[in-house]
Amino acid sequence: MKPKRMKIKTRIYLTFAVVAFVPAFLIGITFKLLGTDENMSADTARGLFAAVILILFFTALLVTFWNKHGILDPITKLSKGLNQVREGNFEYAVEAEDASADIVELISDYENMRVRLRENELKSIEQENKNRELVSNISHDLKTPITSIKGYVEGILDGVASTPEKQQKYLKTIYDKAVEMDKLINELTAFSNACSDNVVYNFLKLKVKDYFNDCAEEVGLDMDNRGIGFEYKNSLPDDTVIIADPEQLRKVINNIIGNSVKYMDKDEKKISIRVLDGGDDVVVEMEDNGKGISASDMPRIFDRFYRADSARTTARGGSGIGLSIVKKIIEDHGGRIWATSVEGKGTCMHFIIRKHKEDIYGQDSYY
Ligand SMILES: Nc1ncnc2c1ncn2[C@@H]1O[C@H](COP(=O)(O)OP(=O)(O)O)[C@@H](O)[C@H]1O
Ligand SMILES: [Mg+2]
Repeated sequence: MKPKRMKIKTRIYLTFAVVAFVPAFLIGITFKLLGTDENMSADTARGLFAAVILILFFTALLVTFWNKHGILDPITKLSKGLNQVREGNFEYAVEAEDASADIVELISDYENMRVRLRENELKSIEQENKNRELVSNISHDLKTPITSIKGYVEGILDGVASTPEKQQKYLKTIYDKAVEMDKLINELTAFSNACSDNVVYNFLKLKVKDYFNDCAEEVGLDMDNRGIGFEYKNSLPDDTVIIADPEQLRKVINNIIGNSVKYMDKDEKKISIRVLDGGDDVVVEMEDNGKGISASDMPRIFDRFYRADSARTTARGGSGIGLSIVKKIIEDHGGRIWATSVEGKGTCMHFIIRKHKEDIYGQDSYY
């Protein structure tokens, strides 16, 4: 058990008591001895005074050390720590040791502040590194299509693309590369919007069944064009309503589907969307049979800028912000998102959003 610490106030009272009563007590005793022993020799009397002075001196020394140890020393350390913090060094820890109770409190406040400042510093360094990494990734990802556009344009100008078919092929490649760059720039814009936290939601009451049916129709057409097998199931009751921003929710679906397409490595490609009734929640599952996500990457895929190494090494462009935007949108809708995956087999993204319910008075309320 920790010893109970004394407050500075108690210390001052105690110091006063020692400083006032010890001399009074000793002087009282001396007078008493002198009064009762009239035959005391001058030597004994001198010895008595010397002893009193010595005791007073050591008492004063003791009290001074006691206060220095309990008040002055820790305050000196604390002040050194504060100086370090002012200089921007958040590593200087101050220990309370035998300080008095009020100073222990001050020290623990200092420590809380210091640890928080250090955490913030580490976070901002991490953020800075991520930003730098992003800029370098994006420059790289933008450079790749630009280099090939340059190459193909030179091919046309130099007459390498001699036949109309060849020229057509070159132009088509240039077009595809431009589309790739456009996508990347859109992601950057989305990123800077998400960073500034000023996404303005246009929340509406959505009939989820109809909403997902419409989405699935569009996604289905797109998947057909890409030669990807698409399955869709919606087992929600017709009247299920959620409060959501349809455009932002669409962004979520597009991003997840975009990843499924991008990280697909099978010949027989399959993507499915299931919208299920989870009681109080609407449950959405979006599954693919792509390359999957390794257990070590899994905890970080929703982090801003995170891309699995294997995703980085492929030619597939990306900035690693898609899923962080997806997560933010779902959480801003009061929902939750997570992923399950078997490496090599495929990935399933799950998200839930609470249903909206009107009570018997026709008032809006939530489960
Ligand atoms: N369906 C998926 N299949 C395999 N890996 C995925 C899938 N979805 C996401 N990932 C992994 O999660 C990472 C983060 O995804 P995201 O934030 O969308 O970034 P990006 O698509 O720009 O790489 C990806 O780099 C990839 O490694
Ligand atoms: Mg993505």
